[in-house]
Amino acid sequence: MFEKASAIIKDGSKLSFDYVPARIVHREEQTRRMETLFRPLVEEGRPCSAFLFGSVGTGKTVTARRFCEDMAAHCASKGLGMERVLINCRIRSTEHGVIYHLLRHYDPGWPDRGFSADDMLRALRKKAEQSAKPLVVVLDEADVLLKSGNRDLVYQLSRLSEEMRPPASVSLILISQYSVSEKIDDASASSFKRANTVRFDRYTRDELRDIIESRAEEALVQGAMSPEVMDLLADMSREYGDARLAIELIERTASIAEGGAEGRITADDARSANAMIYSNVSESKLADLDCKRKLALLAVSRSMKGSPFVSITAAEKTYAVVCEEYGQEARKHTQFWTYIQDLEGAGLLETAVRSEAEGGRVTYISIPDIPPKELARKLEILLDAPSGCDECRY
Ligand SMILES: Nc1ncnc2c1ncn2[C@@H]1O[C@H](COP(=O)(O)OP(=O)(O)OP(=O)(O)O)[C@@H](O)[C@H]1O
Ligand SMILES: [Mg+2]
Repeated sequence: MFEKASAIIKDGSKLSFDYVPARIVHREEQTRRMETLFRPLVEEGRPCSAFLFGSVGTGKTVTARRFCEDMAAHCASKGLGMERVLINCRIRSTEHGVIYHLLRHYDPGWPDRGFSADDMLRALRKKAEQSAKPLVVVLDEADVLLKSGNRDLVYQLSRLSEEMRPPASVSLILISQYSVSEKIDDASASSFKRANTVRFDRYTRDELRDIIESRAEEALVQGAMSPEVMDLLADMSREYGDARLAIELIERTASIAEGGAEGRITADDARSANAMIYSNVSESKLADLDCKRKLALLAVSRSMKGSPFVSITAAEKTYAVVCEEYGQEARKHTQFWTYIQDLEGAGLLETAVRSEAEGGRVTYISIPDIPPKELARKLEILLDAPSGCDECRY
């Protein structure tokens, strides 16, 4: 049992959401901004602050964690100490919960009852002073904390440094999916100057492709995931610009392939993983298609034959065969092209024009959301059922 090494996954821990890669690709600009914002802390021990914001899966948490690790290592190399604590405010959503967690960082035996927030803040100040090191507090998902009316805490934490004996100080990194400037009061907002904002935009398709490649290199057996499958995963996660979805797709795809017989990840494994995560291909979307478009889509799905893309010429050939099978007249190329565009508009397939090595440009069709075999099966069921279509018996 368990003697045989996995053919696909080399190190599953590299796909966990807790894993912090050594290099966060495409977040160099944000990291540089944070370096600028925290230079006064590293060079003069002055408290600093940053507010990281951007939508889901844009790398805010992982960048903040990498940054804190690297900053602490840099300080250590200069003989300076630094304490850092990351608090997820979704888990600790009260002022009491946050301060308690900070205190426990210094004193793991601190009791969870019997002290007011003010008592605990005083104790925290003392403990931080005793440590004689700057403290960096990362409040992740800070919007949850601020929503529940804890505006004051940000102010109190940012003011704590004024009462502290250097070199102890408290620096803050707030992370949120939303702009929280309207949620923190003016006094805290002034310590969180607008200039301290670090924006995290959604990742582009190509950035996601690079993230997928770098994570696959770390987590998967070399060669288990082909560049074509990486392209497909990037296409699948592009709509949301969300790296979490991209990494979840790698994980699901790899575990589906692990159970398969191929010994490598196929395009269909990727599609199955995507269908599990986000099924954009709802039954009703397919049922709403008229039979001509159903036939065109059936032709495309049958012509994929396990590859990630198919040229429109190859799909059109299969279309002629499919029409014959269903006793329908195959439409001309321009009409077929219109069907393809309509199907793309409905989000059922995607097209891309590529320049070929031997010259000329070719349109390729892909079906990112569902394994084509599964799509073909659904369409065959629909086409076999009497539909009441006026134009044909389907
Ligand atoms: N640039 C990147 N390079 C490598 N991995 C990344 C990158 N950006 C994000 N990730 C990975 O994607 C996942 C989501 O990232 P992270 O948790 O940092 O997102 P987030 O912006 O904090 O999202 P949320 O707002 O939902 O908390 C994590 O597994 C993280 O390691
Ligand atoms: Mg996060």
